[in-house]
Amino acid sequence: MATNNLNNSLRLVKPSATLVINELSSKLINEGVEIFRYGFGQSPFPVPDKIVKALQNNAHQKDYLPVKGLYKLREIIADFFKNNYELDATAEDIMIGPGSKELIYNFQVTYNIEELLLPSPSWVSYEPQAQLTNHNVAWIPTDEKNNWKLKPNDIIGHCKDTPNKTRTIILNYPSNPTGASYTAIELMALAEVFKQFNIIVIADEIYGEVHHEGNHQTIAKFYPQGTIISTGLSKWAGAGGWRLGFFVFPKNLRYILDAMAIVASETYTSTSAPIQFAAVEAYREDESTKLYLENSRKILKEVGLYVYNQLMNIGVTMPKPEGGFYLFPNFNKWKDALVKKGIFTSKDFCNVLLKETGVALLPGEAFGHPKENFTARLTYVDFDGKELLNILKETPSVIVDGKFVEQYCPRMILGTKKIEQWILSL
Ligand SMILES: Cc1ncc(COP(=O)(O)O)c(C=O)c1O
Repeated sequence: MATNNLNNSLRLVKPSATLVINELSSKLINEGVEIFRYGFGQSPFPVPDKIVKALQNNAHQKDYLPVKGLYKLREIIADFFKNNYELDATAEDIMIGPGSKELIYNFQVTYNIEELLLPSPSWVSYEPQAQLTNHNVAWIPTDEKNNWKLKPNDIIGHCKDTPNKTRTIILNYPSNPTGASYTAIELMALAEVFKQFNIIVIADEIYGEVHHEGNHQTIAKFYPQGTIISTGLSKWAGAGGWRLGFFVFPKNLRYILDAMAIVASETYTSTSAPIQFAAVEAYREDESTKLYLENSRKILKEVGLYVYNQLMNIGVTMPKPEGGFYLFPNFNKWKDALVKKGIFTSKDFCNVLLKETGVALLPGEAFGHPKENFTARLTYVDFDGKELLNILKETPSVIVDGKFVEQYCPRMILGTKKIEQWILSL
């Protein structure tokens, strides 16, 4: 059988860094090495009980649902965005899909872009999706001094000589990989330049509900006509494997929603019916969801701060975590020692760190950072989220602080110590 008949666009897509690190981790586990899986991007918390029950009660839903999604779910999501983000959304503005990742891909299949703008660093899958759909990617460098966040001038600098190109940007905040987010004032300033250059924004707000202060802002408020919000159940409800995401469109971009529905109807048809019925319960706001989110945020905030403080104390630099569950430590201070040890790239760094300490991180180059930058993504979810939520539910007076982290997150403490010791021994 011919082996060279693969689609050309596949040749551009490199094997994912996540896969490489996971394979090495599994090999080391088989050899009996203790591994700290700080490379994973999965919520540590269980799906809330009431949502699990709703799924059980809807296991019998067997019919194909409408391509754009269950109307009742689209309605309740629109209400959620009206109530929480003051958006003028109705059910017709919402499109449900099997994960927001699939929708971002569907958008790229549907919409012709001359240039997809990605701030560096950005999440690992945007660029491969652009390669699969034959779009040009322009990485926009950002500065550590600005917490690796995009500034209006970065966009002006990039677009001013070719202002008429058709451009889309994927702006993700709170950020995977940095954990940083944008304030309303920063979003307002960015909205101005996106408007100036007619750039469509895919606002990837999948970590919005796990903003540590519960204070997530959306750029859709400041640039409604050009923003499509992308989000879903995966991160805030611990339901990555359920595969439910959605886009919230402004009315003037309804034609893109309609076109994406054509692509959906000829590919995945519609999102799993029982999951959509259960998601109605997820977006029905009540005291139990509020408590689940408040407690998840409290825990994530303290664990993130703990690891941040430990690493900052020895001179590693990174943005202070504001949402989600990631840190983006920069080890450039040890560049000379690393190079002497034969470590030249962030990928080398992660491989050697994993072999010598058992701590798995993902290299900054997987997120579009220059490979000679010794940056990496660290996920701080190596603890028993179910146990911790139970403790907070049973004893609401318990204080979630550094001591709490030391007592209940031993694997985060140990893995962080291992990184510190390894760095200090360089
Ligand atoms: C930034 C970002 N966007 C999108 C996704 C995809 O989420 P979903 O499970 O909705 O496909 C992820 C998942 O890791 C992510 O980190």
